[in-house]
Amino acid sequence: MKKFKRYLVTSALPYANGPVHIGHLAGVYIPSDIYVRYLRLRGEDVISVCGSDEHGVPITIKARQEGVSPQDIVDKYHNIIKDSFKRLGMSFDIYSRTTSPVHHKTASDFFRTLYDKGEFIEKTTMQYYDEEAGQFLADRYIVGTCPHCQNDRAYGDQCEKCGSTLSPIDLINPRSAITGSVPVMKETTHWFLPLDKHEAFLRRWILEGHKEWKVNVYGQCKSWLDLGLQPRAVSRDLDWGIPVPVEGAEGKVLYVWFDAPIGYISATKELTPDWEKYWKDEETKMVHFIGKDNIVFHCIVFPSMLRAHGGYILPENVPANEFLNLEGEKISTSRNWAVWLHEYLDEFPGKEDVLRYVLCANAPETKDNDFTWRDFQARNNNELVAVLGNFVNRALVLTHKYYAGRVPECGTLTDYDRDILSELPTIKKSLEEDIENFRFREALKEAMNIARLGNKYLADTEPWKVYKTDPERVKTILNVALQITASIAIGIEPFMPFTAEKILKLLQVDHFGWDRLGDTDLLAAGHEIGTPVLLFEKIEDSTIEAQLKKLADTKKANMAKEAGHKIEPQKESIVFDDFNRMDIRSATILAAEKIAKTKKLLKLTIDTGIDKRTIVSGIAEYYTPESLVGRQVLVLINLEPRELKGVLSEGMILMAQDPSGKMVLLSPVDKVGNGTMIG
Ligand code: MF3
Ligand code: ZN
Repeated sequence: MKKFKRYLVTSALPYANGPVHIGHLAGVYIPSDIYVRYLRLRGEDVISVCGSDEHGVPITIKARQEGVSPQDIVDKYHNIIKDSFKRLGMSFDIYSRTTSPVHHKTASDFFRTLYDKGEFIEKTTMQYYDEEAGQFLADRYIVGTCPHCQNDRAYGDQCEKCGSTLSPIDLINPRSAITGSVPVMKETTHWFLPLDKHEAFLRRWILEGHKEWKVNVYGQCKSWLDLGLQPRAVSRDLDWGIPVPVEGAEGKVLYVWFDAPIGYISATKELTPDWEKYWKDEETKMVHFIGKDNIVFHCIVFPSMLRAHGGYILPENVPANEFLNLEGEKISTSRNWAVWLHEYLDEFPGKEDVLRYVLCANAPETKDNDFTWRDFQARNNNELVAVLGNFVNRALVLTHKYYAGRVPECGTLTDYDRDILSELPTIKKSLEEDIENFRFREALKEAMNIARLGNKYLADTEPWKVYKTDPERVKTILNVALQITASIAIGIEPFMPFTAEKILKLLQVDHFGWDRLGDTDLLAAGHEIGTPVLLFEKIEDSTIEAQLKKLADTKKANMAKEAGHKIEPQKESIVFDDFNRMDIRSATILAAEKIAKTKKLLKLTIDTGIDKRTIVSGIAEYYTPESLVGRQVLVLINLEPRELKGVLSEGMILMAQDPSGKMVLLSPVDKVGNGTMIG
């Protein structure tokens, strides 16, 4: 394997149109933080860059919805995201933003270089335009029905339901997301990056040169390349973004996916005057951490941009993860179906590492995965408390009990001691291989195996029993247990930095380097350790139930909202005669009773003016029988009779039914005689 002099690690810039949730964390940020913390522990030259992605249509839409400016939106969410990342222990060397002046200049210059080199093609095409808003409808400004899955809320760039990439003209029944009006076609000129020109190179570079990339990433690249690449527009008709630095391009900005990845370069520039060595030297290993929806941009578009520009290195790897679901459903910012990081941090103070642990243990590395609060609880209680916390606590408590908190001498090691200790270098090696190959779930298991080993060691050697007969032996046992404890602090640091820090503090020692994992002289005999405190505490059922309730409430609110908004489209036209065939009369309810063994049905006796008859009506959930007697209603009396639950129903009571299913009776505003015709 090629040895690199330094590492540049990037994490997808989150859109500043909402806070960060567990899906982002499990997909991108936790893995990237594990990776960079590991490299730092190994003493590598590594920088980790990230920042907020502050341009693009989702941000202007959010601003419109909230009646504030796009700048207000990005300021708000940039601060929430930045602060919550910090609290979770994300160790970016810089967390910047794409509205920064350095970025505007960097992205603008980048575009201009490509423009001057003739790397773009200029094309005039017809695009959707909202005449009411006086605006072209780029990307998410246009919505319509997905041609693949019939989702009627697909966007001009993507269908969130089936995941297909779309172009506005693919949408069936396109509508403006701004005014809801039907758009017209209007001519506009844009710059396109001819990806087809880079196709042969990309095929060689990825399909032949990077067979080691994750299967999901390699596979997506291959299918894009096999379909054949097309020129892609890199500008938009919008007023929020980085102006296209070309004369006569007023009202046009860089496409957000053009400027955002350049944000990695800008952030590096802001971080260090030495930025070029990270971006332009072949001895730098660049790794992009992203979610699967970003693969094409990081593996195909951005590399083509870098190559068209010239002088830049390309990523060595792009370890994209799949998606994390929440309690079996897709996480959604707009539907508030998420566990928001900033809320978690407020609600679970001191449990940053629990979230880091669970999200890594359950990361969607090779397929979509599900986060459930029950699993969160189980992993905390059965793994963190019972395995890791328990071992460290026992080792420390026993040392206090027998040796007043001083590390005892290590006497002669038994064969068994040696066996146990010899596992450590093996674990270390697997851990390294797993992290270096982006298998973080496996890596975390290995790190936890150190604690499992410790537990097994104490269970097998039983120092609490041996102490009565052979106190000398116990010195060795606890010395070994404490050395293992120190190794745990090293091994878990990339994953659970707060816990590693706590263990080191308990042991009253400074950070060891990665290489010392497995050493048996991490703690000197006679060294004093601190008073044990528990590393983790049990999470109670009530805590989990409160979180589940919160989600249930979200679901209810969403259902009400969606029901309230969805107005059925107008039905096909009919002629008057069609209407006239319906015989609708006013009638009075004389009696009402529940039909046994049904929840919804009432048997009503009504006076139609013509006769007294029985009608079965599905309104028991909304009206009690008593409240109905004496009410005047409207009835379709010539509807073919039909039997319902053994009762013959002769007609239909007219009702308004809102989309949530709620039914409301209709009555004449003023009383009229029974049998009066309606029409
Ligand atoms: N904002 C994008 C997203 O959340 C990611 C941008 S990554 C970058 O999907 F490379 F463009 F910065
Ligand atoms: Zn779809």
